Amino acid sequence: MPSLIVTTRDGAEQQVEGASGITLMEALRDGGIDELLALCGGCCSCATCHVHVDPAFADRVPPMSEDENDLLDTSSHRDATSRLSCQIILDETLEGLRVSIALED
Ligand code: FES
Repeated sequence: MPSLIVTTRDGAEQQVEGASGITLMEALRDGGIDELLALCGGCCSCATCHVHVDPAFADRVPPMSEDENDLLDTSSHRDATSRLSCQIILDETLEGLRVSIALED
């Protein structure tokens, strides 16, 4: 069960418990991070689950699909660490994953 460290938009850090097999978006939402809207429910069509992944974990998260890449392009807050949290499925290799919630578009 990976533990995640989340930085919210006000800069506060919070620990959230994940579970292998669920998405990062689900773990954040279930962990009470309510600023992550995830309006489409994980269908890769809204970009309101945008997070920035700590660069130390860049090679551990699954690769980005073309759809995710295209959708992230619609955000004015995209940077090299941007991912859609609904597209990252948690597993034990992501123990200690640090993410920050992206600013709202
Ligand atoms: S929840 Fe809509 S794109 Fe991730």
